[in-house]
Amino acid sequence: MKVELKHISKTFGPVRANQDISLTFEAGRIYAILGENGAGKSTLMKIMSGYQSADSGEVVVDGQALTFNAPTDAIASGIGMLYQDPLDFPPFTVLENFIAGRAGGFLPDMDEARHQFMALIERFEFDLDPDAYVDALTIGERQQLEILRLLSLNVRALILDEPTTGISAEQKTALFNVLKALARDEAMTVILVSHKLEDVIELCDEAYVLRRGKFVGQQSIPCPISALVELMFGKVIERQARPPVEVGDPTLVVDRLCITSRRLTVENVSLEVHAGEVIGLAGLDGSGQGEFVRSCAGLIKPEDGRILIDGRPMIGLTYHQFARAGVAFLPAGRIEEGLIGEMTVTDHFALTLPSRAPWVNWPRARHTAQARITHFNVKGRPGSPVRTLSGGNQQRFALSLLPQNLRLLLLEHPTRGLDVESANYIWEQLLERRRGGTAIVFISAELDEIVAYSDRILVFFGGRVTLVDDPEDMTANRLGELIGGRL
Ligand SMILES: Nc1ncnc2c1ncn2[C@@H]1O[C@H](COP(=O)(O)OP(=O)(O)OP(=O)(O)O)[C@@H](O)[C@H]1O
Ligand SMILES: [Mg+2]
Repeated sequence: MKVELKHISKTFGPVRANQDISLTFEAGRIYAILGENGAGKSTLMKIMSGYQSADSGEVVVDGQALTFNAPTDAIASGIGMLYQDPLDFPPFTVLENFIAGRAGGFLPDMDEARHQFMALIERFEFDLDPDAYVDALTIGERQQLEILRLLSLNVRALILDEPTTGISAEQKTALFNVLKALARDEAMTVILVSHKLEDVIELCDEAYVLRRGKFVGQQSIPCPISALVELMFGKVIERQARPPVEVGDPTLVVDRLCITSRRLTVENVSLEVHAGEVIGLAGLDGSGQGEFVRSCAGLIKPEDGRILIDGRPMIGLTYHQFARAGVAFLPAGRIEEGLIGEMTVTDHFALTLPSRAPWVNWPRARHTAQARITHFNVKGRPGSPVRTLSGGNQQRFALSLLPQNLRLLLLEHPTRGLDVESANYIWEQLLERRRGGTAIVFISAELDEIVAYSDRILVFFGGRVTLVDDPEDMTANRLGELIGGRL
């Protein structure tokens, strides 16, 4: 299905998110939409999928100009989208979610739906249990479910907004195989919004680049990654080297920790993290890394074992006591676990700045908000509700909320959704904290990020962990084998 965007413009107050953008998407081809954080990618895709309306311009499908008032209109015209922020899935089973959104005033035929579902998962080699409850699914599994749902609604153009942030390498391979097959065998039009340029090169045929709300150029793929970076930023960007640091005393001591959660058990983890050290946690999605950092943050009570911060036993203490001991945790789910969408940037500082007084010091909150926005280059204003920030800017903002002078900083996917330049900037900030003596433990699905920044690496697999002491000799490929259980 051929989809054209013609002269699309969209403003939010003073922000010109899309300015007169015209693009053509041919059937059977896979496109990338690239651009720095806040460039207008998600806005454009939401307009194309009926989630938002444009101020002007039109969406033309197979030559016919259409008006969408809701995503269901776009789906009826064959355009479906996977959104950047995970949609709310109703607390039903996989199969019940699969049939959500179907037309018809009669009860759906569950046997027929099950049959169709099983045929689709077999065809795409997805590993999904139709009777599982969606709240037990990983992000990658929810995504697979949403793709199957859209396909069953006969979507002919599929838009994916940063689908590979937060899914495992295996799920990514499965996803890409499916998308390639759909484009090749069924002339599906596929559009991928992504900051992962390796993924773009692997999957896409053509890249369209946005900068500050405008279309600035296109590039046929294959091409070198540097060609895409230059088109996006107008310059070449390289990852900074990790300077050596003198490590201090142990800040965090984890001693034979056992964690049991609904999904898994991790046994016998022991680790010492010294002041100024960076530890990368590698593993497939859901291998226990999340539970490990939440235990170290005081959010999960481990089954057994000891956690010491600066020599002080912490098990049994509250999250607030961990925080007072100098521990901070940045969770992966920006809106679900960290930020509050309806609250403004200033509100967040009002809530999180340490204060002895029982009232909120608003001038200080506003002042801090403005200062951190500038420092972290957040595209937004102190009065912006956090929900209106672009995905990458929410991430930068979440990082800007972290207190200064921490003993231990625990991060889950710190650069998820960030453009290359912003990711580098965030690591500059983190390495600066490291120089100041903060111990850093971070989870990432980006194996090259782990290899580049870790002093040591902890690999999670099958309920056990393996410590890699010398990341100097480690490559992303070798690490990929380890997290898949190949020793
Ligand atoms: N609902 C909204 N209200 C106000 N401003 C908005 C809204 N949605 C988006 N914006 C603004 O429009 C601009 C473009 O945002 P958009 O989400 O399209 O960026 P993006 O290219 O997807 O960025 P990212 O890579 O960070 O996801 C940003 O400045 C953003 O703050
Ligand atoms: Mg976006």
